[in-house]
Amino acid sequence: MDDKSPPKLTYFGELLSKRMSRRGFVAAGSVAAAVAGTLPSITSADAKASNQRPFKSVGPTRNDEILLSPGLRHDVLIGAGDPLFKDDSGLTSRDLRSLEWLDAQAAAKQEKRFGTNNDALAFFASPKKRSAGVLCVNHEYISLELSFVDFPKDRAAWVRSHPEAVAWMQAAHGVSVLDLDRGVHGWQVVRGGTHTRRITANTPMQIMGPARGDALMRTSADPAGTTVLGTFANCAGGKTPWGTYLTAEENIQDYFGGARTWLETSSDEATKLAYQRWPLRERSANGWDLIDARFDVRREPREALRHGWIVEIDPLDPSSTPKKRTALGRFCHEGANTILTADGRVAAYMGDDAKFEYVYKFVTRDRFDPKNRSANRDLLDHGTLYVAQFNEEGRGEWLPLVHDENGPLNSRNGFRSQAEVVIKCRAAADLLGATPMDRPEDVEPSPVTGRVYMALTKNGDRESRRSDFLGREIDLGPNYANPRPSNDFGHIVELIEDNDDAGSSRFAWNFFLLAGDPRNANAKFLTQAEDLLPGRLTRDDVFYGGYADRSQVSPIACPDNLGFDRTGRMWVVTDADEELIGNNGCFVVPTSGPDRGLLRQVMSAPVGAEVCGCEFTPDGTTLFLSIQHPGEGGTVEKPVSHWPDGQGLPARSAVIAVSRDDGSPL
Ligand code: FEO
Ligand code: CA
Ligand code: CA
Repeated sequence: MDDKSPPKLTYFGELLSKRMSRRGFVAAGSVAAAVAGTLPSITSADAKASNQRPFKSVGPTRNDEILLSPGLRHDVLIGAGDPLFKDDSGLTSRDLRSLEWLDAQAAAKQEKRFGTNNDALAFFASPKKRSAGVLCVNHEYISLELSFVDFPKDRAAWVRSHPEAVAWMQAAHGVSVLDLDRGVHGWQVVRGGTHTRRITANTPMQIMGPARGDALMRTSADPAGTTVLGTFANCAGGKTPWGTYLTAEENIQDYFGGARTWLETSSDEATKLAYQRWPLRERSANGWDLIDARFDVRREPREALRHGWIVEIDPLDPSSTPKKRTALGRFCHEGANTILTADGRVAAYMGDDAKFEYVYKFVTRDRFDPKNRSANRDLLDHGTLYVAQFNEEGRGEWLPLVHDENGPLNSRNGFRSQAEVVIKCRAAADLLGATPMDRPEDVEPSPVTGRVYMALTKNGDRESRRSDFLGREIDLGPNYANPRPSNDFGHIVELIEDNDDAGSSRFAWNFFLLAGDPRNANAKFLTQAEDLLPGRLTRDDVFYGGYADRSQVSPIACPDNLGFDRTGRMWVVTDADEELIGNNGCFVVPTSGPDRGLLRQVMSAPVGAEVCGCEFTPDGTTLFLSIQHPGEGGTVEKPVSHWPDGQGLPARSAVIAVSRDDGSPL
């Protein structure tokens, strides 16, 4: 943008020694221990040993297979359609080659099978047995052409003539809760285990927090506005310190239809206003509205407001009712990653994954009680939701989204209560002056250093002009935290809370990664934070945490989900257009020490897949990854990928477990 003198960015090295002794380090360790039961202590010796053996890069490739760095192996744990209970042969990729399976019983069967397009993974180690645990898995959406053979261009006509497909799709969404056991053949799913459960788009849930019972949450089926059916579009997720799963409802706008005709004919201005910053469409992606009135905005205009939340699930109690935690705001939730504040409360970091949307943090009012799990049951219903504002000095502020008649979030501005603040969260954040980002995906604190990393996956629309974008007029040009025009490769921002405390309202920030292809001769390989200024950068310029040798790092595009191993190295999985660099994959990078920024690709995914998840077992020996939508771009009848079943069969999404050949920690 303008040519100011370079901002004084807080530089990384100075902060590190201070950081390693932070109170939060101890607190975070005990949190993990509380969740995991058996977390080994993290020592500097671990960190050193791990850093001494960087992985050899694989890729970029375009191969239709899982490729791993030497010394690593993988097992396919479970894939779409696999049975979760005994006495079921599942829905196989071979079955998909006709539509015979799609009968009146298809939905009921699917309710006991692994869903489609697996995304987030959260592992809860058994407190009793080191080789057992529970894995929660999101089923984000359906790839129609990869599910239904000969799927035609006219989706609506097909859905109308196959009404049973809607119930099946609803049953294939949501969350799977799996019991896992590790034996001689590695991790296996225990069919019909004590925690085994499927949560779908029709599972009854409670609406909790400030929006509970609000007029905007009421429908004909739920006049009280307190209960809702189901969760869908579940993208990334997170875990609480008390061992529950947080699943994030992301692109719910794809599931509702009839919105334009409703807008034209309805006089319900209050409900219309609630959709202004997150509009629905006339035609849904999957046609559920054609069969199920709940998804037709003309018939249930407020149903969609009951989705787009963080949902808390207790994986240890299969009979528990999932709870939508409305205090955490309504937006395209990517995930919710938690850490303790210095005084023992819980902070959850969240991204709103759409172009020019925001980064959020929720801090609970009350403290986490590590001794009494049930005391934490509704901790997420009370607290303060904040949105991030980044400034040019490498500083930033968490702006509280709190209803206040004397502040900007008042009735005159459309916010009569905290319920309306959380329901119209994006509009509230606009008023406070939040910084529009390049698609915030995972926002995740390192459990070792407490520094927070936010993956900004990409934003090809970042260009210098003012325009209306998703219901508000904003400057679409590069800003200090999103400095590249046409940001097709994405970046990662590192955030350091003041006083090393996740409860702080101010923070320092800098760049950790400007992703791209260092092999590209036109790409400037930048090493100084001071070089990373809007107006000086092009789409192709790269930065790897200050690492200086461009020949040593892997090309990377579109960082999406993040994870940390027990030594503090960050693991990054990608969701890029394969035209950019090659197939998506998994990467690892130290965030501190001399190898900070030495990013290496350790896994390359099959054709058409994005990689999600990135979840370690507490002992660090297994990394679970989601291989989502392999074969995208092809169809059941003309597959472009045959992973994982091979034999010319169509591809299906699946979870893999990656480990070292010798079984030692990754
Ligand atoms: Fe569902 Fe933001 O990826
Ligand atoms: Ca994602
Ligand atoms: Ca994604």
